[in-house]
Amino acid sequence: MAILPILQFPDPGLKEKSSPVTGVTTEVSAFIDDLLETMRASPGCIGIAAPQVGMLSRIIVVDVSGHRRGGQEENHGLLVLVNPEILARGGKQLVREGCMSVPGYTANVQRAQWILVDALDREGKQIILEAVGFESIAIQHEVDHLDGYLFLDRVSSIKTDIFRRKCYR
Ligand code: NI
Repeated sequence: MAILPILQFPDPGLKEKSSPVTGVTTEVSAFIDDLLETMRASPGCIGIAAPQVGMLSRIIVVDVSGHRRGGQEENHGLLVLVNPEILARGGKQLVREGCMSVPGYTANVQRAQWILVDALDREGKQIILEAVGFESIAIQHEVDHLDGYLFLDRVSSIKTDIFRRKCYR
């Protein structure tokens, strides 16, 4: 197990599209352990995507259960999602987002209120799950990383919707 260094904006690796994982092998499983350890090493972190540590594979991990808002809402606890695909989405919510790869800033981003996600779990079994509220935001944010998008790419106005962090949470 290892805590992996996190790429920071404007690292070009963050703009790359990640490739599907062909199978949850021993190597992939060991990488997922490292990703989990990296997420847990950062207090308040609710998710991380493989490309943030320089691995261009479609793997994300999310856990909003310890978050002050996410933990109050319906959630699945720890989620390891391999090849996640958002099959359907609905509703709208405007949320303030941050990212370990963009440490100095937060921004208001519009996201869907709920999503239906198809993925493989960490054993390689197919799962379909519905996520709502804060957990759905976290998944949408991490899936964006797999396609080379940061939350900065999602703001409607660079002038009014991006904020400098007062302190790092
Ligand atoms: Ni992020």
